[in-house]
Amino acid sequence: MCGIVGYVGKERCVEVLLDGLKNLEYRGYDSAGLALALPETGRIETAKEVGPLANLTSVMGRRDGDFFKVRAGVGHTRWATHGRPSEANAHPHTGGGDPLGPEVAVVHNGIIENHVELREELKGRGREFRSETDTEVIAHLLAERVAAGEALKEALAGTLKRLEGSFAVAAMSATEPETIVAARHQSPLVVGLGEGENFLASAVQALLGNTRRFLFVENGEIVTLTDSSVEIQTLYGQPVERETFEVDWSAEAIELGGYEDFMLKEIHEQPAALQATLAGRLDAGGAVDLSELNFDLSGIERIVVVACGTAYHAGLLGKYAIERLARLPVEVAVASEYRYADPVGDERTLVVAISQSGETTDTLAAVEAARGFGARVLAVTNTQGSLITREADAVLLTKAGPEVGVAATKTFLTQVAGLYLLALELAGTRGSRPAEELAEIGLGLRRSPEKVEEALGLLEGRVGEAVEVFAGARCALFLGRGHLYPAALEGALKLKEISYLPAEGYPAGEMKHGPIALVDEQCPVVAVLGEGTLREKTLSNVEETVARGARVIAIAREGDKAGRVARVVLPVPEMPEILSPLVSTVPLQLLAYHVAKARGLDVDKPRNLAKSVTVE
Ligand code: M6R
Repeated sequence: MCGIVGYVGKERCVEVLLDGLKNLEYRGYDSAGLALALPETGRIETAKEVGPLANLTSVMGRRDGDFFKVRAGVGHTRWATHGRPSEANAHPHTGGGDPLGPEVAVVHNGIIENHVELREELKGRGREFRSETDTEVIAHLLAERVAAGEALKEALAGTLKRLEGSFAVAAMSATEPETIVAARHQSPLVVGLGEGENFLASAVQALLGNTRRFLFVENGEIVTLTDSSVEIQTLYGQPVERETFEVDWSAEAIELGGYEDFMLKEIHEQPAALQATLAGRLDAGGAVDLSELNFDLSGIERIVVVACGTAYHAGLLGKYAIERLARLPVEVAVASEYRYADPVGDERTLVVAISQSGETTDTLAAVEAARGFGARVLAVTNTQGSLITREADAVLLTKAGPEVGVAATKTFLTQVAGLYLLALELAGTRGSRPAEELAEIGLGLRRSPEKVEEALGLLEGRVGEAVEVFAGARCALFLGRGHLYPAALEGALKLKEISYLPAEGYPAGEMKHGPIALVDEQCPVVAVLGEGTLREKTLSNVEETVARGARVIAIAREGDKAGRVARVVLPVPEMPEILSPLVSTVPLQLLAYHVAKARGLDVDKPRNLAKSVTVE
């Protein structure tokens, strides 16, 4: 969490930094701040505001003069880890300044685990702390070295050798006002290349309005940026050659484009996102081709999926499809548990790590844990060049385009589609199902963009009635069976994260073992029915909740007789049964969206959350 940006170049520094932070706000919005090297004097001035970036932007809008001539600076958008959201805890943090020598400023994403010891040590040398953050120790350590006469780059290298934990850090010093230095260990950092200007950011989307040419900074490297040069070195001073990397995301993809919120826009982008993800991987006859992976799928005896949150739910759907079609055992693990579970496996275990951002710390650590027993790793991610792509043996890229809303929507559907492709490919390789059956499912998958488009059309104007069922609700229960149980889990997660209503996703058959106690008129039940063999059983469970006063919303095929028990039926088009979560998820996303809007909430930036979870 937290986003950092840096810029050196022309007299548009403030504009570039604020624009970059706007595109990184999904990483945290507890406070935002800038540190700028003022022209002529080289003095470093900071500006910080608590709350969303808009607060800082409006303050900067009232500033004039030197601020807009600045040519170098760093910026930060915060998701608080150490210290509550406050101006004192907002980054950038500074060290030095009269009488302690030249002033330095630092922005940081990550956690410094030994900050307590370092703080005590620095206090012992007379440094005064102004914040409760772990980051401030970096500023003081750096300032001490700069005051001792070290160049900024050497001073940062020396400072970093004292730190334990994870970081992406960018720093500047009054001694070198036209230089930014930065480094990373575990947290992401990219360099954007310009003409007469250069950029830094936590993620490429921060810089898409300025460049599409990037360099990655790897763990243990320091990058030094001026307007005309970018140098990468190891912490021990060895020069590093790095190839330029171009991204194909456009700047428009991160604009609202007429929609009220990114979440709604991204829900409506799902047909196109699916189309792009399937293109070139599924032919007109429904045959899958994943040869692009350049990865030998034979010899696999077991699959472990590791992921967090929504990506974990996609993994559960992947398990269902892979076990059904490829007849391979699949375990799906929450990455934050798996990483510490001392996991069992061998080189015949394939680990599928799913992460839209490719940055989630727990998912990366789970991959590392699996490497311990020799697993091969396939990453499913939406972010080209992200950390996970560099940790994995092969990458199945979902092509949803950048997702800005904190609640994952289009990246979920494309992860699920990617896993269906994998299931079909594995089944083909293993000969575990008749080719005709696989081709039929492949054809169904190929048609999924149209089906999701059809679902959006069918649901237009229908969700309002379901939102009324939520008037006065104090919780909600989402029920499904089989492959519709993960869909129910995802529906509950979407609702709770953006509407703040407690919601549980449950296997419908398990409901009588506890959660039915929640049911009354203030606890709506959302039943994901589908059409398969388990439909009638789920419907019976739903009737049991109705008998206890529940108001029910059913997700079912248009014309389904569920209307008999449900107050509202949210219709979805017909789909091959195994693929039906692709359409059943759409009404769940829209329901969560409209319930949150009816409660007057900011759906794109739900409280306490950040889109990329880069700390444990
Ligand atoms: O970037 P990742 O896919 O690794 O993120 C995992 C979760 O943090 C993420 O899916 C989260 O649960 C979503 N914001 C939920 O909508």
